[in-house]
Amino acid sequence: MSQPRLHAALRQPAMFMALLLIGYLLSCHTQDKKAAAAPLNPNGDSELALLMRAMFDDALLMKQQIEQGEQPRPALDYQKILTAEATEPEKAASDTYKVHALSYLQTIKALQGADAPQAASLYKNMVNSCMGCHQALCPGPTVRIKKLY
Ligand code: HEC
Repeated sequence: MSQPRLHAALRQPAMFMALLLIGYLLSCHTQDKKAAAAPLNPNGDSELALLMRAMFDDALLMKQQIEQGEQPRPALDYQKILTAEATEPEKAASDTYKVHALSYLQTIKALQGADAPQAASLYKNMVNSCMGCHQALCPGPTVRIKKLY
């Protein structure tokens, strides 16, 4: 076995990190594609995945509103998190998912009633709850979610 080559590979941290990152980003959908996991939408994304992307954009907007000293305006049908069809339905059917989903909904509710001075810490609670569920069930997107802090 060629030690020098291994060393050369490890000396390229960028490459090493890229490989790690790819593995990590895929970690939410690692199961083989079974027939049951066929795309639910024409573009291949589950209802839950689309909702999550909208939640991300919505949170980013709230972050900007708070930074500008405005009252944040949550603007999605958040309850859908309880019913949206997931890529891996068994994940969304788990008790862990439900507990995190309900706590997320509570943080949203608190934000909806928040005035500008309270908003920053309530917003942070909301992002913490995104992180909580993702660390438990689906670590891939945590890299993106961190940008919401
Ligand atoms: C109750 C658990 C839970 C909470 C809370 C949660 N997520 Fe997710 N998230 C998931 C699951 C499960 C998926 C995988 C969805 C799928 O592929 O069907 C996902 C997927 C995602 C994705 C990837 C979507 C894609 O393009 O495939 C992003 C980004 C994301 N979530 C961001 C967020 C943000 C931002 C929040 C908070 C505002 C949040 N999530 C809160 C469970 C959660």
